[in-house]
Amino acid sequence: MEQLTGTIIYYNQHGEGVAFYNTKPVYIYGTIKGEEILYEIQQTHPTYYVGKLIKILKPSINRNYHNIKNSHLIGGYDLIHMNDSEQRKFKEEKVIQDFKKIAHTDITKLDWIEGKQKTKYRNKITVHDGNFYQKNSNETIDIDDFLLSSIKWDKSLKGEVIYRKLDTLIYGYKHEKKYTFDSMFEYQFRVGLNSFYQVNKEVAILAYQYIIDNLLDNGITLDLYSGIGTISIIASNKSQKVIGVEINSDSYNDALYNKEINKIKNVDFYNKDVSSFIKEYKESVDTLILDPPRSGVDKRTLNLIKDIIKPKRIIYMSCNPATQASNFNILKKDYHLSKTAVLDMFPQTYHIESIIVLDRNNQ
Ligand SMILES: C[S@@+](CC[C@H](N)C(=O)[O-])C[C@H]1O[C@@H](n2cnc3c(N)ncnc32)[C@H](O)[C@@H]1O
Repeated sequence: MEQLTGTIIYYNQHGEGVAFYNTKPVYIYGTIKGEEILYEIQQTHPTYYVGKLIKILKPSINRNYHNIKNSHLIGGYDLIHMNDSEQRKFKEEKVIQDFKKIAHTDITKLDWIEGKQKTKYRNKITVHDGNFYQKNSNETIDIDDFLLSSIKWDKSLKGEVIYRKLDTLIYGYKHEKKYTFDSMFEYQFRVGLNSFYQVNKEVAILAYQYIIDNLLDNGITLDLYSGIGTISIIASNKSQKVIGVEINSDSYNDALYNKEINKIKNVDFYNKDVSSFIKEYKESVDTLILDPPRSGVDKRTLNLIKDIIKPKRIIYMSCNPATQASNFNILKKDYHLSKTAVLDMFPQTYHIESIIVLDRNNQ
């Protein structure tokens, strides 16, 4: 196969370096912006190629040298070849570009929020037949040490097994009712095996602090997609009243339990889909907190938020800046972007967490 030389110009959404061949982009895993490389074309698609790195001719000063065997096959090690500052540049630039392309909005100021722990930060792993899924594949790879978590797993267990380690390690299959406990700020939280809980506690605390710092004091706070009630409970002593809405009954039951053990009186949880909840909601809202799954908030809910609920402020936390930008595009006639934070919740991976603070125009 023909070997080509190229220069990495920018990154695609998965943090792969992009060079050009025949005026089409070539995505090359494991490369860094500015590097000159030798590569070959592995796949041809109508609008792009996938290339394989053969040799780095001129390395970037931001290259991280490591000797992890088969790192290119292990899901979650996507940015392992970049040092911290290059990973930060990729993540900040991705959020800026998503808002520019999707919401036609220029972000001029970003807050960068990171923790100290860049490896072994995950408190949850999912293992398949004792192994890990390979990147973008149904094949597994047998590894002895997972760089992103210190959890030790049992290689002999068959099927998909979830492990979560907070105060104690719990593990089991999806349907099992098992709990582990954690504390954040002055509150205790019960977390079920199947409930949502942020995987990187150090950065989650910084994210929640950012949300609390931007909450409107003593108001009505509506926390949509409330999970086990973390944000609702943490926001309770800065709010007159908090309403949390969560569709998953395991997470909702943890939220009720957490309200009880923390002796919180001014929080109500509802086990509902946010769009059916919001259709019937009649009270006013000062701060609306949104923390949806990767798919973002559905259009109907967004329209009800801007036309009927009309909160003074929206604090929107997201693990997918592209859907966050697309949701902001719908809200932007009524709300302006007051703050943007990019969080390094998932070091070594291309995944990004971001928080935007929106204020209603003409309040
Ligand atoms: C990213 S998690 C946020 C959890 C919580 N805010 C936290 O910080 O731990 C998203 C949550 O939204 C819930 N969810 C997904 N779709 C929903 C819907 N249509 N209505 C209500 N909750 C939903 C999921 O079950 C999950 O608990």
